[in-house]
Amino acid sequence: MKELHIGIIGFGTVGAGVVETIQKNAQLISQRVGFTPVITRIADLDITTDRGVKVPDGVLTTNAMDVIEDPNIQVVVELVGGTTIAKTFILKALQHKKSVVTANKALLATYGQELFAAAQENGVDIWFEASVGGGIPCLKALREGLAANHVQEILGILNGTCNYILTRMEQEGADFNAVLKAAQEAGYAEANPALDVDGFDTAHKTAILASLAYGHWFNAKQVDTQGISSVTQQDIQYASELGYRIKLLAIIKEVNGHIQLGVHPALVPAASLLGNVSGVFNAVWIRGDIVGNTMYYGRGAGRQATASAVVADLIDLGLNISNNCLRRLPAFTPYDGYEHVMESSEVIARYYVRLQVMDKPGVLAKVSGILAKYDISIASVTQKENSSSSSVAMVILTHKAQDAALKSALAEIAVLDECSETPVVFRIEDLA
Ligand code: HSE
Repeated sequence: MKELHIGIIGFGTVGAGVVETIQKNAQLISQRVGFTPVITRIADLDITTDRGVKVPDGVLTTNAMDVIEDPNIQVVVELVGGTTIAKTFILKALQHKKSVVTANKALLATYGQELFAAAQENGVDIWFEASVGGGIPCLKALREGLAANHVQEILGILNGTCNYILTRMEQEGADFNAVLKAAQEAGYAEANPALDVDGFDTAHKTAILASLAYGHWFNAKQVDTQGISSVTQQDIQYASELGYRIKLLAIIKEVNGHIQLGVHPALVPAASLLGNVSGVFNAVWIRGDIVGNTMYYGRGAGRQATASAVVADLIDLGLNISNNCLRRLPAFTPYDGYEHVMESSEVIARYYVRLQVMDKPGVLAKVSGILAKYDISIASVTQKENSSSSSVAMVILTHKAQDAALKSALAEIAVLDECSETPVVFRIEDLA
C-alpha cells in the first residue's frame, strides 16, 4: 500500500484540523510508515463555509454515503458528534468493512458495546484516541504501554473548561458564576456549559478509560457524577491553606475486584503533579501494579491537539491494513472479571467537610461525637476566630471513612440547632 485513502464525515473544527495536519505532515508520515495518508472525500451538510484549508475539487460532498460507499476509501473518520446520526454512520461504515476513527466520547460511552461488537463482526476496528484527553496519547499508553499491568487506579483532569474555571477561581479569588461568565465571553466555555461544568463530559471520558483498563465496556450512566458548580471561593481558600487544590477528577479504582467509577470535585495535594495541572490543560495519572505511578499531560481539546490524535489513529490503522493485520491490536478487547461497579455508599475515601456552626461551647464536642459514633476519624479541624459573627466555618479533614457512614453522620450534624447551613463535602485524593 502506497496510499491510505481516508473519508471524513463532519468538516468542522477538528475535520479541518485533520486535513491541515495531513497536508502539513504527509511526507513525514510517509517516510515514517511507508504510506501516504490521502483525504479522498469529506462529507458535511455545509460545504461552502471557509474552514481555512484548501481541498481539491470533487472532495467535498453533502452526502455521507458518498464517503461510506466509496470503494477506494479504507478508513472513515466520524467527526459529526452526538449519539444519533453519528452512530448510524459508524455502523454503516463498519458494515461496509471500513475501520472507523472517532473522537465521539458521548457515543462510545453510551453505545460502545454495540459498536465494538459490530466492528468485531465485520473484521474491522474502531479507534478513538481523540475521545479522551484530546492530543494526549493516554489511551495508547493504557492499551499498549501499560499492557503488562493490572491498573490499580486512574485519576484524571479531563475537562479543560472546568480546569480553566477552577484555576481562575483560585488565582483571582472570583466566584464560580463570575468566572464561568468570563470564560463564556472569552470563548473558552460553551453557551450551554452543562455538559462540561456538571461533569458529564468527564463522565464519558471516565467510562472509556475504565473500559480500557478493566476489559468491560462501562456506560457513562454507571459513573457517579458531580460537577463543579458547588465549589465556592471559601472552599478553594480553605483547601489552599491546608495544602490542597480543588480539581474536577475522574476517579477510577479497582478495589478487591470491584470498580469504583466517579467524577467529583476533589482536593489534591497542591505540590503533586496533578495539583499543578492548570488552565485548559488535561492530565491522566495511572498507577499500574508493575510500573507504579505514571502521568500523561497536554492539551485536552482544540483543533490541532484533537487532529494529532485522530491522525495517529489513522496511521495505526494504515499500518495494520498495509500489513494485512487489521485487529492485530483491537482498540478494545472485552474480558471477564471486573464488571461490578461499586455503589457510591460502598466507597471508602478521605473527605473535606465544611460546616457553618454557632461559635459556642460544646459544638465541636457534638460534631466530633457524631463523627465518632459512625467510626469516622478526624485528621484535622480548622476554625478561624470570627468576632463579627456568632457563626463560624468549621473545616474538618477526615481519615479514610465509608461514604455511607459519612452521609449518615452529616445528616445528623445538619439538623443540629447549632448548624446553620447544609454541610459541604468533597473527596480528598492524596495520590498515595
Ligand atoms: N469541552 C471539553 C473540555 C472538550 O472543555 O475539555 C471536549 O471534550
